[in-house]
Amino acid sequence: MRTQVGIIGAGPAGLLLSHLLHLRGISSVVLEKRSRDYVERRVRAGVLEQGTVDTLVEAGVGERMLREGLPHHGIELRYGGAGHRIAFEKLVPGRAITVYGQQEVVKDLIAARLAAGGDVRFEVEDVAVHGLDSEPYLTFGDERLDCDVIAGCDGFHGVSRPSIPEGVLSVFERDYPFAWLGILARVAPSSDELIYTRTERGFALHSMRSPTISRFYLQVPPDARMEDWPEERIWAELKARLETVPGFSLATGEILESGITPMRSFVVEPMQYGRLYLAGDAAHIVPPTGAKGLNLAVADVRVLTEALAAYFKDGTTDLLNGYSQACLKRVWRAQHFSYWMTTLLHTFEEDDAYARRLQLSYLDYVTSSEAAATTLAENYVGLPF
Ligand code: FAD
Ligand code: DHB
Repeated sequence: MRTQVGIIGAGPAGLLLSHLLHLRGISSVVLEKRSRDYVERRVRAGVLEQGTVDTLVEAGVGERMLREGLPHHGIELRYGGAGHRIAFEKLVPGRAITVYGQQEVVKDLIAARLAAGGDVRFEVEDVAVHGLDSEPYLTFGDERLDCDVIAGCDGFHGVSRPSIPEGVLSVFERDYPFAWLGILARVAPSSDELIYTRTERGFALHSMRSPTISRFYLQVPPDARMEDWPEERIWAELKARLETVPGFSLATGEILESGITPMRSFVVEPMQYGRLYLAGDAAHIVPPTGAKGLNLAVADVRVLTEALAAYFKDGTTDLLNGYSQACLKRVWRAQHFSYWMTTLLHTFEEDDAYARRLQLSYLDYVTSSEAAATTLAENYVGLPF
């Protein structure tokens, strides 16, 4: 079997790449180890930057997102007994975010690939990468897929990054002394906009998916287990962290899904080796506070599509050779922003009273200075692609 681009992973990066390549007349096969049902149900990110929305619309896969997604023109930072709105319409006019679940993006992309006769294979076993220096191919089960180029879109725990010979990649990473416990609940959002709240008990986030479904996150210890967090404890803790301004009451409901995500910052440089190009979480991870993970995956794939289109059109390799460098500038901006939002809003056990005062002073600055608030807003809605 032969294709132009062998893609490992049917997350947002792999599926969008396959779709964008199809629009340029370039063939690909997507190999995914999980089932279609599993990837379509996996609850993860929810905030789409303006550039991500524009990309999906331009690619013809934005129709349901435009219908069902929730455009937001601001977020609230809540701390010290008060809420402070970061008003995108004033600080970054014309730019906004759209709240639309990652698994909805994945569903829309799978539907578009299959409708166009695309080759997306689920429950594929033992994918392995070969021949990166000259004639790349992938093996899986007892099959072989020859390709011109391999795209490693298989997330942080995939096989593509570890297939790069030792010593080639530089790794930059940081762990955080906490994790996020996330829930999806059948309850109307208690706020029109996302609330990022910092309390002495830790951070919490009120997000949403629709007028009847809400999404919440709690900062928890890094070794927390779901068994330690029965429903009553989750709601009690969310209330303790969110009901911190006068008149705000948190509505509760049936918990539909829950999970704990470790917090990590991670980048490899370069994001390529021989005929292998890494995109999305396979190359970099950010803590979710800045809502950048999915958006970075989309940005990488846009750059890779242009580079592959030039290569398959007339054999030019300039853009392919510069792929990693072209992506890393945005990757590092998102790294800094995500780290910054995380340290601004979470409590660190090792912080003494002095460090906590500094954090509150910084929050006061961000919410009272237009320049500082603009920095937050323009990074949050996303710098232009
Ligand atoms: P992924 O979505 O991870 O897709 C990779 C795909 O590759 C998966 O479908 C996987 O099954 C497949 N795969 C892996 N190994 C193999 C293999 N060997 N062979 C074949 N297929 C393979 N971001 C936010 O902004 N907010 C959040 O709340 C948030 N929550 C998250 C929760 C979790 C548990 C995780 C892991 C990430 C979260 N993120 C969040 C980050 C965001 O979801 C990711 O940045 C985004 O999914 C990146 O897309 P991707 O396509 O690069 O990788
Ligand atoms: C969501 C996730 C995030 O990481 C974030 O910063 C904002 C919202 C969400 O899942 O809705």
